[in-house]
Amino acid sequence: MNEDISQRRQEKIDIKVEIATGKDLLALRDLRLLAIQSKDGHVFAATRESVEREMALTEEKWREYFFSNNGFVSVSRYGAEIVGMNLAFEKAPEENLWRMRALYIKPEFRKMGIGVRMFSMGLREIIRLGGKKVSANIEVGNKDSWNLVTKFGFKKVSSGSVELETGETFHYDDVELDDLDDPELIKKIKEVLNAG
Ligand SMILES: CC(C)(COP(=O)(O)OP(=O)(O)OC[C@H]1O[C@@H](n2cnc3c(N)ncnc32)[C@H](O)[C@@H]1OP(=O)(O)O)[C@@H](O)C(=O)NCCC(=O)NCCS
Repeated sequence: MNEDISQRRQEKIDIKVEIATGKDLLALRDLRLLAIQSKDGHVFAATRESVEREMALTEEKWREYFFSNNGFVSVSRYGAEIVGMNLAFEKAPEENLWRMRALYIKPEFRKMGIGVRMFSMGLREIIRLGGKKVSANIEVGNKDSWNLVTKFGFKKVSSGSVELETGETFHYDDVELDDLDDPELIKKIKEVLNAG
């Protein structure tokens, strides 16, 4: 497995990063269900109850989950397989504030630059749709995610916690990128997407 991964990195395997369409709905659902049941489920504050709730959602509810409020999903594809996703939706239209969530890349496809490419694709789409600010929640201690968002200039604006059904507490930081017009950011997004 490890050999396979390092080989992929060296060969720069062909991963396409793009915006998902309605045809991807069931594959997106399956990836989301995999993510919340995986060992990374804690970053999504997943509990047995919340997993069961998501497993019971109808197709129509999944469509809402992925595509409502101007929402879209950046995906990465390896052949026909969706190996990563990142959701975005318009959280507060009056402020042109967007939110990113549910970012997940299958473990065997990590550390190849796909996260950076999907984030760039998502930010470019948000800018195209008129967004001016983007926010996200990150579990305290999620270094991989923190490293990713800080590369794009997200800053911590607050933190909070919620009590889960298990009785555990989920601690998170709210991060925000408040200037989507920043020429440096636009340059970075272009560079990443052109290199992809
Ligand atoms: C967070 C997450 C999406 C990052 O995805 P990723 O595709 O691994 O991200 P990237 O490959 O772009 O970057 C990860 C690291 O690999 C490095 N990297 C990129 N290409 C590389 C290559 N070819 N060879 C070696 N390392 C490489 C990057 O420099 C980066 O290093 P850093 O963390 O020290 O800055 C992924 O770890 C994940 O799905 N985690 C579980 C779910 C999660 O935490 N979601 C976020 C919820 S808020």
